[in-house]
Amino acid sequence: MPGSLNPTAMARLLGPWNSGAAPAYRELADVVRLLVMDGRIPLDVALPSERALAVMLGVSRTTVTAAYASLREQGFLSGGQGSRGRTGIPHRTVPVSGPGLAVPDGILDLAYASLPATGEVVHRAFADALIDLPALLPGFGYDAVGLPPLREAIADRYTAAGIPTAAAQILVTSGAQHALNIILKTLAGRQQKVLVEHPSYPNALDAIRASGSRTVPVPMPPAAEPTSGGGGEPTSGGWDIDGMVAAMRHQRPAMAYLVPDFHNPTGRIMSNLQRRRLVREAAGTGTVLVVDETLRELNLDDVSTSPLAAFSPAVVTIGSLSKSHWAGLRTGWIRADEDLISRFVQTRTTMDLGGPIVEQLAGVRLLRAFTEPLDARLAELRRNREALLGLLAEHLPEWHVERPRGGLTAWCRLPTPSSTALTVVAPDFGVRLAAGPRFGVGGAFEHFMRVPYTLAPTRLGTAVLALRDAQARIDASPQLRRTLKAPKEAAAVA
Ligand SMILES: Cc1ncc(COP(=O)(O)O)c(C=O)c1O
Repeated sequence: MPGSLNPTAMARLLGPWNSGAAPAYRELADVVRLLVMDGRIPLDVALPSERALAVMLGVSRTTVTAAYASLREQGFLSGGQGSRGRTGIPHRTVPVSGPGLAVPDGILDLAYASLPATGEVVHRAFADALIDLPALLPGFGYDAVGLPPLREAIADRYTAAGIPTAAAQILVTSGAQHALNIILKTLAGRQQKVLVEHPSYPNALDAIRASGSRTVPVPMPPAAEPTSGGGGEPTSGGWDIDGMVAAMRHQRPAMAYLVPDFHNPTGRIMSNLQRRRLVREAAGTGTVLVVDETLRELNLDDVSTSPLAAFSPAVVTIGSLSKSHWAGLRTGWIRADEDLISRFVQTRTTMDLGGPIVEQLAGVRLLRAFTEPLDARLAELRRNREALLGLLAEHLPEWHVERPRGGLTAWCRLPTPSSTALTVVAPDFGVRLAAGPRFGVGGAFEHFMRVPYTLAPTRLGTAVLALRDAQARIDASPQLRRTLKAPKEAAAVA
């Protein structure tokens, strides 16, 4: 319910906001932004008048006027000067205009882990798709399972990888996220449990929550310490399979959502030994393993592992062209046994009646020449990864950065629990971030930041310097962190 915040309640929420490390108006605006982003000041609430707040805080009215003006400029406050502005979230921080659509000028986007299209190749695939289109125009155009040549092309790639697959085992979807929603609606739902790695991919966690299922988070072990005399980055800590087995036995989740191939956000890859054991144990507890292989092609260290489905026909696999080619294709798929595919198709038609035809025709072309754009993409990502790791070691040596084996992101442990504060402050330095808690449940990972290496080295250089400056600002204004650490207190809204 829209309401207003009185000066006393606001002063209590602000806490000790004024450290003197920056101009007072700026510190005040920063803390208010933080409280809005953190949900402790609700949206669409009128803040106290400038005069009343100035009196309550014992500062000049100019300070409050300037703070409110800054919040207005950034989109956190509506209304003009003089009127009581209402809180809001700026459109540009809502990830609706991500990379590939419209990146706002001057802001380096580290909130997304995605790459531009493999330009030439994707464009050519669409041009060829238009040549193939006339043959399909006499049909109705509804296609709930996917175009036969696309299902075949996807199945053939699994068969070539050593997992014999028929086209009937493939359901084409509008991306991996769509695939996960279909699976959740079919296999999980209200009151059922879904095991997840912790941390995990934020949009998947959101989808699980939205399905009404309860997440069963199993912590990923901390990154191992560097092995060689203190030098180099820590290596992967793998998966806690014992923990997953215990969770499956005791909590009996209906399904597990896992990203064993260049896990988002850590970039880890699960060993074959761990895969085999996981599949065996899941069979014993009746938990369906749903494996998201969206990042599997981004194998930067040429690690050799078998897809999880190689260990059991009961494994459900999600795939996507989003990271290998382009997210704008909105083309993904589910691989499962034929009976399950039939159930997924039934669910799918409650959500939509099929994928767009031209995208699928382009998808056939891309699948048939799958590796063509991949070498260049991997070379670019390897170069970016080394650049990022080097830059972080140089400019933020107190960050503990785990070396990713593949995928698009590095998972960094921060020296202080300041991830949300960094995310709030970073746009002032020209960088957009996704805070660590987005990757967990119950507010975990305030000590972590995911940094993608999707930008070229020079832009990564600018971004890391901005991160360093943002971190320095947090270090100089500990009240930003303190505000976060304070116990949650519902804002008094009248
Ligand atoms: C693990 C994982 N799954 C799914 C997606 C989204 O895939 P899609 O664009 O196919 O919906 C992403 C994108 O970052 C991802 O990292």
